Amino acid sequence: MHSFRYLQGQLHCENVNLNTLAEQHGTPLYVYSKETITDHYTRLDSALNELDHLVCYAVKANSNIAILHTIAALGGGFDIVSGGELHRVIRAGGNPGKTTFAGVGKTRAEIEFALSQGIYCFNAESEAELRHINQIAGEMGKTAPVSLRVNPNVDAKTHKYISTGKSENKFGIDFDRILDAYAAAAEDCPNLEIRGLQMHIGSQLTSVDPFVEAANKVVPLVQQLQERHHIKFFSIGGGMGIVYQDSLDSGDKTWWGNQSETERPLTIQTYANALTPILAPLKLRILLEPGRFMVGNAGALVTKVLHNKKGNAKKFVVIDAGMNDLIRPALYEGWHQIVPVNKDTTNPEEIVDIVGPICETGDFLAQDRPLAPVAEGDHLAVLSAGAYGFTMASNYNTRPLPAEILVDGTQAHVIRERQTIDDLLKGERIA
Ligand SMILES: Cc1ncc(COP(=O)(O)O)c(C=O)c1O
Repeated sequence: MHSFRYLQGQLHCENVNLNTLAEQHGTPLYVYSKETITDHYTRLDSALNELDHLVCYAVKANSNIAILHTIAALGGGFDIVSGGELHRVIRAGGNPGKTTFAGVGKTRAEIEFALSQGIYCFNAESEAELRHINQIAGEMGKTAPVSLRVNPNVDAKTHKYISTGKSENKFGIDFDRILDAYAAAAEDCPNLEIRGLQMHIGSQLTSVDPFVEAANKVVPLVQQLQERHHIKFFSIGGGMGIVYQDSLDSGDKTWWGNQSETERPLTIQTYANALTPILAPLKLRILLEPGRFMVGNAGALVTKVLHNKKGNAKKFVVIDAGMNDLIRPALYEGWHQIVPVNKDTTNPEEIVDIVGPICETGDFLAQDRPLAPVAEGDHLAVLSAGAYGFTMASNYNTRPLPAEILVDGTQAHVIRERQTIDDLLKGERIA
């Protein structure tokens, strides 16, 4: 489900009107629903109840400490890719002992910090990285818990920029070399404790088939590692896709708007039903690293119309949010539903490009999109912007980062203040 719906013709997040939030806090504004995040965590957790499992939320999707705190309070763990993300987890009250550390290039400082905080496991992505972690752990008089990320060479059938499990991708160790890598680690790295195996084949997967293909390919490897190295967990990564082409019609509160059960690309039940029989016989702890699934549909980017502009070839709606606030359309052709906060059921829609103020041709949030006519000052909501939205935002064109709001029922909490120009220039000086 998600908690964005029209009430009396105005779009609300839970019980809070988005027009009111935009007027109070300005635009562009990220707005998240605590109810949706809680619902998604709970659904995933209960769908997997036949497995000994731990949900390690992928912090990169949305790293605001209020979001992390919400997940920590539900019992979740975390998957991080930097020392900075570990600082966030700790600041949010998360447990480092339930935190895994992914990524192909961890620095010495990050490894030292993670070791000092007692994280659950380093997910190493190369033999060189294993040796590096081993050396640092030795110097610190510690034993580092490690797993290796396997690259199973499976096509995730998603956008090429978010496909991570093919041989040509930089991630993980090739399937046919990984047993040797474990053997070398066991033999040459006395400061490592081999704890698990990890994989992550890509993001925004809308079919369960690649997950099943990868799991079937990797499970025999897991069994060998259980026998040889007594591993304790297998992480199947994240990647569960969400619906971007949602519907808000009729104030429907269901996750998928008015789509029928069979039209849903991937439900969490389908995912759990397909994977549980493959994973349960391992009798091993299963880790998951969902990011987008947990927060994607829980967020919207609220923006204001600056003007309408008519060109010879196209009509443009110029808004105050740009690719610096939400880069998914420019970076990997991400598609977001964009709706007016004031519902218009009377005027016929026109085909427009919805563009930002950035000096780049790629600065659009939608192209050739039907939209009821909008006027200067109207608010639009870019839906399903809770994942890889704010976390990928930048200061390009010297634009301050937007504020973030977490809605909880009738309450709206400012969980990040809008950045000021002074914040943005802090640290710069004339030589
Ligand atoms: C190692 C790892 N785990 C989990 C995720 C989360 O993916 P998603 O947001 O698609 O669930 C990513 C995303 O890039 C990742 O690289």
